[in-house]
Amino acid sequence: MSDSTSLTEQLEATQQRAIADFSQAKNLKELDALRTQYLGKKGVLTDVLKGVGRLAPAERPLIGQQVNSVKQALNEALGTATEQLQQQERQQRIEAERLDISLPARRQSTGARHPIQQGLDEISDIFSRMGFTIAQGPEMEDEFHNFDALNIPPEHPARAMHDTFFLQSDDDVSRLLRTHTSPVQIRAMLKHIKANGESPLAVVAPGRVFRCDHDVTHSPMFHQVEVFKVGEDVSMAQLKGVLQYFLSSYFNQDLPIRLRPSYFPFTEPSAEVDMGCVMCQGKGCRVCKNTGWLEVLGSGMIHPNVLKSVGLDSERWSGFAFGLGVERLVMLKYGIPDLRLFFENDARFLRRIGA
Ligand code: DAH
Repeated sequence: MSDSTSLTEQLEATQQRAIADFSQAKNLKELDALRTQYLGKKGVLTDVLKGVGRLAPAERPLIGQQVNSVKQALNEALGTATEQLQQQERQQRIEAERLDISLPARRQSTGARHPIQQGLDEISDIFSRMGFTIAQGPEMEDEFHNFDALNIPPEHPARAMHDTFFLQSDDDVSRLLRTHTSPVQIRAMLKHIKANGESPLAVVAPGRVFRCDHDVTHSPMFHQVEVFKVGEDVSMAQLKGVLQYFLSSYFNQDLPIRLRPSYFPFTEPSAEVDMGCVMCQGKGCRVCKNTGWLEVLGSGMIHPNVLKSVGLDSERWSGFAFGLGVERLVMLKYGIPDLRLFFENDARFLRRIGA
C-alpha cells in the first residue's frame, strides 16, 4: 500500500468518524470541542496532514484536493449539527420558560376607607358644599381650649362629666386628650381673626376625641364633627335650616327635625336636636324606642363668653354651633347594631360598608 493510499484511507476514516461524532454531540459546547478536536490547529486533520510531507511531490495535489473536500464535508456536517443543536436548545428553553396563560390571575384586593372615615368625609363634604371651611385641631389639647375658652371654668360640673384623660406635661400648662371637637371653634376663630381681622366665618371640624369611658355603647376614642358659623346676623333659624339640610342630605331622605331646649356651657340658648326616625319613618320602632324621634346632636347659639374669649364683641357678633357623634350617625345610616364593630377590624364588616 503506497503512502498516498493509506493517507486517503485515513482521511476517509477521519471524515466518517468526525461526521458520526458531530451528529452525536449533545449540545453546542460539546460540538465546539469536537470541532477543535478534528479541525483545530492540533486536531486530527492536522495530524493526518503531517503525512503529506512524506509523499512524492506528484501525489501531493491529489491528496490536497481530498483534504479540501474532507474539510468542506466536515464544515458542512458541523453546520448541520450546529443548526440542529440550536433548534433543540431553543425548543428546550421554550419548554422551560413556558407560561400557562390560562391560569386565573391572583386577585389584587383593593383597600377601602374605614366606615368612620367615610362618614367623616361625607359629613365634611356636605358642609363644604354649603361653604363651610374644613379645619382641624390637635388631639392633644390644653385646658384653655378644651374647657376655659368654651365657658367651662375649673369648678364647672361639666368638666367632671367629660371623663378627661389628662396627660403629664413638663410645663405648667395642663394637657389632655381633647374630649370634644369644640376646642377647634376657639382655634379656628383665633386663627381667622389673626389672618383676616374680625369677619364672618363658617367652619366644619371633623376629628377624633377621647373620653375615659368604655362600655357597650362607649369607646374611649370616638369621632365628632363640630360645625359653627359666626357673623353679624347669625340666627337660630339659620341653625335649623343648616341642620335640616345636612341631615336630609346625609340620610338621603326628607327628614323632619325638632329642637328641644337643653343645656351646654358653650351655647345659649342650647338645643338638643332630634330627627325623624330613619328606621321606621317616624312610626315608632325599637331603635327610636317607639317615639318616632332620634336624638342626634347638641347645638345652640354660641355663648357670649365664648366669643369674648377670642376677643370678639358679643354685641356685634353672634354664631351658631353644633357637635355630632360620627359613630352614631354612621350606625343609623347603615343599620349597624353594635358600636364595637367599628373597632374590631373584621374585614367582612369593613368590606360591606367601606368604599
Ligand atoms: N361638645 C359637645 C360634646 O362633646 C357637643 C356639642 C354640643 C357641640 C352643643 C356644640 C354644641 O357645638 O353647640 O358633648
